[in-house]
Amino acid sequence: MKLSVNVDHVATLREARGGLEPDPVTAAHIAELAGADGIVCHLREDRRHINDRDLRLLRETIKTKLDLEMAATEEMIKIAIETLPDLVTLVPERRLERTTERGLNVVDQIPYLSDVVLEMHKHDIKVSLFVDPDPKQVEAAAKTGADFIEIHTGEYANARNEKAQYEELQKIKEIAKLARRLGLGVNAGHGLNYLNVIPITKIEEIEELSIGHAIVARAIFVGFERAVREMVRIVKGI
Ligand code: PXP
Repeated sequence: MKLSVNVDHVATLREARGGLEPDPVTAAHIAELAGADGIVCHLREDRRHINDRDLRLLRETIKTKLDLEMAATEEMIKIAIETLPDLVTLVPERRLERTTERGLNVVDQIPYLSDVVLEMHKHDIKVSLFVDPDPKQVEAAAKTGADFIEIHTGEYANARNEKAQYEELQKIKEIAKLARRLGLGVNAGHGLNYLNVIPITKIEEIEELSIGHAIVARAIFVGFERAVREMVRIVKGI
């Protein structure tokens, strides 16, 4: 299974101060050095974390592959065509949400999304549709001509107890199988961490995971002690 690392929340930290650091582009390079198979970023309409400069530099400098998460709006479609990411993952976007809260409603937008897929294909960009583990959405995704689905693992990750988590896992397994039968590639992501990812890695039909928040959160703690020690040395002159 492959891992693509989402660097959005490195940019979230930068935006908290409105300066230049930490730079999500540097994070992407480190992720590649550490063995990531790809880099993901979500360019939101409000540019709350990743901005146009980040996207441009990521495209120019990363050596693996770039997955641009975006809403299927006119503005974003234009940006995708200018940037030429390797993959576009279409997600629903609501201005007031903290993060992507649900999968796309593909069922109600098959003609529109089919046009978007066609436009992306004209520019050699593959398309993935972020969907809840719902057979109707996956069947609709296949009708649009998309190359992949990304299964939304948020319900699984946020399940209240083991039983609910087990049920969500079964749904994900079934959906992965269905998608493969329909000729779609299968990715998955959202809310995956160092524990709940383990059962997901056993699902053979899933090609790639997209993980961001848990990695950025862990980076703070695995790096915090060293960062403090370095500052202690400078401040104490030792
Ligand atoms: N996949 C999609 C479509 C997402 O919107 C996100 C969140 O940006 C992720 C994966 C990664 O989720 P997380 O940051 O919780 O790992």
